[in-house]
Amino acid sequence: MSEPLMQVVYVSCATKPFTEGELESLLTSVRFNNQRLGVTGMLLYREGDFIQVLEGPETTVTELFQRILSDARHSGVFELLSKPINQREFGEWSMGFRRIDQQHIPGYTKMMNNPDDQQLKVETASQALALMRNFASMKG
Ligand SMILES: Cc1cc2nc3c(=O)[nH]c(=O)nc-3n(C[C@H](O)[C@H](O)[C@H](O)COP(=O)(O)O)c2cc1C
Repeated sequence: MSEPLMQVVYVSCATKPFTEGELESLLTSVRFNNQRLGVTGMLLYREGDFIQVLEGPETTVTELFQRILSDARHSGVFELLSKPINQREFGEWSMGFRRIDQQHIPGYTKMMNNPDDQQLKVETASQALALMRNFASMKG
């Protein structure tokens, strides 16, 4: 049997705002790596905040998340969700990307102000996933 899959959702803050060029080069290397690793997902960027969903084989995602955690380009990495999954939700995306200037994630600010509230974390993760699923379904 192949290794179980897992999904991780986290939020973080860019250490300094990314320029368009910096975002592009981040995405190019991320997509290259993820294709090699068998990782899929979606990254959202909103005024210096990142939200990312990663999915793939358990060990790979766990190791990748550790590398992402120690990446100096962002800080305050805060895990919202980490769970086993039966199938990928973003299987066609080595890393989808959206800038979200207009949309916001309901409950996000409240959650950031109450980081120990597990229920708020679960709710915010599901709001973020709903938004990302929506983007993933809008091809092209
Ligand atoms: C917001 C953000 C998201 C990232 N997402 C990924 C990713 O999905 N896959 C990946 O390989 N690297 C990702 N990276 C880059 C990693 O942190 C790291 O630079 C990369 O895996 C190379 O690691 P290495 O320098 O230890 O070889 C991300 C970085 C940031 C700041």
